[in-house]
Amino acid sequence: MSMLKRLPLFPINSAVNDQGHLVIGGCDVTELAAEFGTPLYLYDENTLRAKCREFRTEFETRYPSVQIIYAGKAYSNVVLLRLVQEEGLGLDVVSEGELAIAKKAKFPMDKIYFHGNNKSVRELEMALRLHVGHIVVDNFHELEILGKLTQELGVKQDVLLRMTPGVDPHTHRYTSTGSLDSKFGFPLPLKEQAVAAALKIKGLNVTGLHFHIGSLIFEPEPYVKSVKSVLKFAADMRKKYSLELQELDTGGGFAVQYTLDQPAPSIAVFAEQITSTIKKECRELSLKLPKLIVEPGREIVAQAGVAVYTVGTIKEIQEVRTYIAVDGGMGDNVCPAMYGEKMEAVLANRMRARQAGKVTVCGKFCESGDILIRDIEMPKTVPGDILAIAVSGAYSIPESMNYNAFFKPPVLLLNEGKAKLIRRRETLEDIIRCDIDA
Ligand SMILES: Cc1ncc(COP(=O)(O)O)c(C=O)c1O
Repeated sequence: MSMLKRLPLFPINSAVNDQGHLVIGGCDVTELAAEFGTPLYLYDENTLRAKCREFRTEFETRYPSVQIIYAGKAYSNVVLLRLVQEEGLGLDVVSEGELAIAKKAKFPMDKIYFHGNNKSVRELEMALRLHVGHIVVDNFHELEILGKLTQELGVKQDVLLRMTPGVDPHTHRYTSTGSLDSKFGFPLPLKEQAVAAALKIKGLNVTGLHFHIGSLIFEPEPYVKSVKSVLKFAADMRKKYSLELQELDTGGGFAVQYTLDQPAPSIAVFAEQITSTIKKECRELSLKLPKLIVEPGREIVAQAGVAVYTVGTIKEIQEVRTYIAVDGGMGDNVCPAMYGEKMEAVLANRMRARQAGKVTVCGKFCESGDILIRDIEMPKTVPGDILAIAVSGAYSIPESMNYNAFFKPPVLLLNEGKAKLIRRRETLEDIIRCDIDA
């Protein structure tokens, strides 16, 4: 069996050419590795656009008023944000840095939702001055700051209040955010106080409620439970405070397929469950249908992205394990080390080679935990082979680091046989730029 069975995990229309090389977006990955060096990240434009369209179609055909917003934490890059905007999506940002990237991309400010559990005064002031569409208020401290700032600046700001629905999304504990014991959102027992406090602030216009229960969620059930709980609360708040729920933001978190043995439900499955639950509950609670906001991050960029490395040292430990070391690792993709994410790889320069046994792909960072893929079936691999890991587009570059003073990798956008450099490789100068020789 060759590695071709893993091809469907790569961006749409990925192929193998006559030389047995992996081809993405019409570009020969082996040639790109030679031209731009490795480690290297590739994004396929068509796959990214297709994901944006799939989200819009699946939700908009089922529900009257929808805004899909891309959670830019999955990867904010000026060029990628332009594509997302062209596809009609809004944007979720969580910092002044992400806001600056959005500004540089000329992202329409009114389509931006500003998130974060500990936004600084400076960040909130920047958001207010730039007139972002919505601030998603996380806590009482933030309400206090916003009260003062909106008065000082003489502005009125639309806000959503982030609720903790108290639902377990059955995902990794690091990516679970909707249960009672979470640093995010107003605590469950104080949610009514949050509404009362927000409504008292003249500079704020409370347009709705938000929840985000976690990431890499494989079942629609936690969304259904959260929608029910938040809408029941909304009905209660209408009765007590005359608060009309104009918008309901159900967050992101949709699972993606990283490996052949763990398929994820389609976007349609999540869309059907979320929208039908909102419609049913609103009918029963006599609520007007709110505008629905959905915040996918991972699903938009994961499959579009591919990480490309060159194989270096190969260490065979008889009857124990063979380590294949590549020229990147946890510095450019920390997800396998941090969340135990499982991934699949191929040799981009020898796609038709037959599998020869299990190996472990490790990086070059000084940590034993710097493992990209444990126990994967691969062909006999030699130094110089080009190893490509599928589904690498989400959270890898934004969570990348300069540990061991290695460079962060460059990024190419691929389409119709053309490769555009959209982020350059760091240099030695970048590495020492912030040190002050005092
Ligand atoms: C508030 C919020 N919305 C959306 C997302 C996107 O989640 P995902 O990338 O899993 O879709 C996150 C991710 O942590 C988040 O914190």
